[in-house]
Amino acid sequence: MPTLRTLPAGARRANPSVAADLGPPLLYSAGMSVIDLRSDTVTMPTAAMRQAMAEAEVGDDVWGEDPTVNSLEERAAELLGKEAGLLVASGTMANLVAQMAHVARGQEIIAGAESHLVVDEAAGHAVVVGASVRQLRDRPDGTLDLDEIEEAFRNPTDIHEPPTGLVVLENAHSHSMNRPLPPPYLAAVAAIAHRHGVPLHVDGARFFNAAVALGVSPRELAASADSVAFCLSKGLACPVGSLVVGDRAFIGRARRARKLLGGGMRQAGVVAAAGLVALADGPDGMIDRLAEDHRNAKRLVEALAALPGVVSPGGIAQPGDGPLDPERVRTNFVLFRVERDRRGFLDALRAGRVLMEEYPHGQIRAVTHHGITGSDVEATISAVGAALDATTRRSATDPVAAGHLQGV
Ligand SMILES: Cc1ncc(COP(=O)(O)O)c(C=O)c1O
Repeated sequence: MPTLRTLPAGARRANPSVAADLGPPLLYSAGMSVIDLRSDTVTMPTAAMRQAMAEAEVGDDVWGEDPTVNSLEERAAELLGKEAGLLVASGTMANLVAQMAHVARGQEIIAGAESHLVVDEAAGHAVVVGASVRQLRDRPDGTLDLDEIEEAFRNPTDIHEPPTGLVVLENAHSHSMNRPLPPPYLAAVAAIAHRHGVPLHVDGARFFNAAVALGVSPRELAASADSVAFCLSKGLACPVGSLVVGDRAFIGRARRARKLLGGGMRQAGVVAAAGLVALADGPDGMIDRLAEDHRNAKRLVEALAALPGVVSPGGIAQPGDGPLDPERVRTNFVLFRVERDRRGFLDALRAGRVLMEEYPHGQIRAVTHHGITGSDVEATISAVGAALDATTRRSATDPVAAGHLQGV
């Protein structure tokens, strides 16, 4: 039997002020169980995390007196080979304090047009940092073209132009099917940035998925970056928190930025304790086990690709139409389209107690994570087959069916 997760009785519906519509309340009554593949953010803290949180030694972290936060920040820095680390509330805040620490108002950031920082962070770069973004075309392997990066730098002596202040890469890169960017590529981008006197920041919300998929150490993957942000609250299963790492001077500025944003927390060791469990070496921690999520994603994509009605996600996730290519999956994201009405398909799937997420370009996203077992994957494959049978056949490239007009 698959290990279905039970939603708490109180979680009858998502907060209506959150844009994502979770659909009819069918599943959210007490006792109903789901296989929730919408995101790895739905992961629950482990028993070891809850115990560590309950027993955490704490202090006032704004005064630098929380020993558990200090340990977590040191552990993160050590793991990624940097001088210092900073615990913040979220991945968005991690990217924001990094931008504030690297970039002066009126400067410009070079980043991918489909990156989270550009698309999904409520324009914090403009609203808070005061920076414009020079958006480059993300490629299907998650990279930006090196020549285009080189050409994107502004002329610092021309007073008309915003001086370039930062280059940002996303690793793993979500919209390309969460593909990992390897160390030599990061080194090449860093070399260009540094030649222009500009730092490289890596948005590594799923940094450890990338490291595990590539078979390299986090330190090796972080080596060329001046700063890296990573999330505890995604595949690592912590309830909250992200970290930024870099040199001491950078972290000092990021700490000031965190305070400015109202992100200074007090006895945050309660949260940090879960992070220390997640970042432990070997089977006690949550990093090495990401390989299991990747294997589950591979099994899922191979089975989905064989189902008539499941097709290529298109976009940079898998350019072009035609069959879904299992080779595109390198980490824990499976993106695809269905030759069906997408909403109808997802509702039918939900009726089968499996949740997936609408994704841009008419895609559907299924994310494997700590809460998903091998038998959940098998149950999902059956549920997808049933949902395809239950929904009307339409072209996946039909703009309405595919959701191009839904602004997802
Ligand atoms: C690539 C990437 N960066 C940053 C974030 C932001 O993380 P958070 O939701 O914790 O703000 C996300 C969240 O999904 C992400 O996917």
